[in-house]
Amino acid sequence: MPFAKITQTAHYVPDNIVSNDDLAKIMDTSDEWIYSRTGIKQRHITVDENTSDLAAKVGEQLLLQADLSADQIDFIIVATISPDSSMPSTAALVQAKIGAHRAFAYDLTAACSGFVFALSTAEKLIAGGYTRGMVIGAEVLSKSLDWSDRSTAVLFGDGAGGVLLENTGTKPLIIAEHLRTDGSRGNSLTSNHLELQPELLGRSKPVAEFIKMDGRAIFDFAVRDVPKNIQETLEKASLKPEDIDYFLLHQANSRILDKMAKKLGAERSKFLQNMQDYGNTSAASIPILLSEAVKNGKLSLDRNSKIVQTGFGGGLTWGTLIVNL
Ligand code: COA
Repeated sequence: MPFAKITQTAHYVPDNIVSNDDLAKIMDTSDEWIYSRTGIKQRHITVDENTSDLAAKVGEQLLLQADLSADQIDFIIVATISPDSSMPSTAALVQAKIGAHRAFAYDLTAACSGFVFALSTAEKLIAGGYTRGMVIGAEVLSKSLDWSDRSTAVLFGDGAGGVLLENTGTKPLIIAEHLRTDGSRGNSLTSNHLELQPELLGRSKPVAEFIKMDGRAIFDFAVRDVPKNIQETLEKASLKPEDIDYFLLHQANSRILDKMAKKLGAERSKFLQNMQDYGNTSAASIPILLSEAVKNGKLSLDRNSKIVQTGFGGGLTWGTLIVNL
């Protein structure tokens, strides 16, 4: 059975930076409130690029780094909750933009767990016989934010990151995994709900549904269910936190990372963190973190490093992959 290998990583964020102080000019908030509660200092907010533009930039970069042509790509999965449109999918738009005309392409919706779910899926596609694919997490969450709601608007940002996956591995890429969903708790984090035929049934057309969140409920979910999930996945692989080089967790809130490290009995310094620069970019947060770690030399794709990748968020969804790079 062929083994998948992550052979390239890349990320792209829009140029436009919005600091906490910038937000304090348009809503009743402050850098002190946002930073002390979340660890976020700034976020990148797109001006004229949509989700498929950010994702295509990542795709082009992956091809460039690998010295491949686009027609050598078999599949493209884009994890996103902020697609350009429901149809065509963002992945189909990326396929067209980068000219990967042989590739099949589809979006995967699992909110902030999207990249983890997509990488798990892609690994099985490689095991099933495909040679090469892209897994990209891309979000323009700024278009789903209610800029008059300070409790959500300050948390999120735009960006994209991704990996090139090829069938050239010599060992299993994912040592253990545990993916979870609990739809019964889905109401605590929602966006873009569509009403049933408002005009036809004489109902007034609702205003667009923005991201709504019960912050406390999500915080509790993150610090209760997620460390348990990581612990169970480590046990499946007969590993302890000290065997892990780095923990790459979804970048929602630095206080969540503090609590996770404590609950797992793991060194906090092993939990990579970049939400100070990007805010919460949902499905893009883990691949951006991975790409940055490779770029700055913290991680190498060829050093046999063991990393934990854990996503958690809307659905509710959560899940952990223990990845051997
Ligand atoms: N600036 C200033 N004040 C704000 C604010 C902002 N941006 N947002 C909310 N507040 C106010 C609230 O109105 C409230 O005021 P009140 O006490 O007068 O009613 C007060 O701050 C406390 O709000 P609360 O929601 O209780 O804050 P908190 O300490 O729970 O922190 C979050 C809020 C969102 C930072 C926190 O709940 C959290 O991180 N939740 C998880 C979010 C997350 O990770 N989501 C993504 C998962 S994928």
